[in-house]
Amino acid sequence: MRHIINILDLSVEEIEELMDTADDILANPGRYNEVCRHKILATLFFEPSTRTRLSFESAMLSLGGQVLGFSDSGSSSSAKGESVADTVAIVSGYADIIAMRHPKEGAPLVASMHSRVPVINAGDGGHYHPTQTLTDLLTIRHEKGRFENLTVGLCGDLKFGRPVHSLIEAMSRYAGVKFVLISPEELKLPSFVKQEFIKDKGIEYRQSRSLDDVIGDLDILYMTRVQKERFFNEEDYLRLKDTYILTPEKMKLARPDMIVMHPLPRVNEISTAVDDDPRACYFRQAYYGRFVRMALIMKLLGVHAE
Ligand code: NCD
Repeated sequence: MRHIINILDLSVEEIEELMDTADDILANPGRYNEVCRHKILATLFFEPSTRTRLSFESAMLSLGGQVLGFSDSGSSSSAKGESVADTVAIVSGYADIIAMRHPKEGAPLVASMHSRVPVINAGDGGHYHPTQTLTDLLTIRHEKGRFENLTVGLCGDLKFGRPVHSLIEAMSRYAGVKFVLISPEELKLPSFVKQEFIKDKGIEYRQSRSLDDVIGDLDILYMTRVQKERFFNEEDYLRLKDTYILTPEKMKLARPDMIVMHPLPRVNEISTAVDDDPRACYFRQAYYGRFVRMALIMKLLGVHAE
């Protein structure tokens, strides 16, 4: 039995395989609509979500399976003080696979130690978000056609933004990748990611406070939301929330083939006027989430199309 807590729980070859499956699902959805018949996915979401939870549920329903779960910890027994370990010990008797989001870093790992079925980390605090990274990788494969030799700019809240951490880990395995880290001082990439996945690997990187100074060098611009819910005081959030706002004027400084990604939800950091730019691919990115999650559920349950 396998759990996916971190994107590095999957090898480069396995990621390639998942992307191939996702592409086949996109091309031939009918081949897959019964493969998880009689299987149940539980979505245990202790934190708000739109895309991640609904795309997981849509994925399982599209595979012919069923879903149960909660989207608000207040309606589960955690509100009575039940531990994650106990919740999962019980739910793993009611479902064949679990997707869990939790505000505490490490909660899905703890869950996996008490589960009888595969556990997928759907986001743990300011830590990791491996299935967002699968979505991101499928987007990069479709839009850029490769993972190697790309200059990836990550902009905004690099401290608390878990999709950034998982994406850096994943991209650090491909040759010729460079990172440009764009953030205010207070929201810099934490050392648990920077040391191990950039510095120790000898990967070329640059840090900048200014988006304008570096946007022209990028193949990919990965924008992020300032993670309001992880701030200790509101003043800091209010001061930092609008540090970067991508506008059509700024897009004029970018290469004609640069792509703009964002895990969404966006608040102010990308002006809606950028949405019509063909380089804006965040809505396509969110669309792919359903198909990579279908591929991942199939892999963890060991089921295949006929
Ligand atoms: C991200 C998350 O939850 O970490 N959202 C998502 O899953 N698409 C990013 C965010 O909330 O800003």
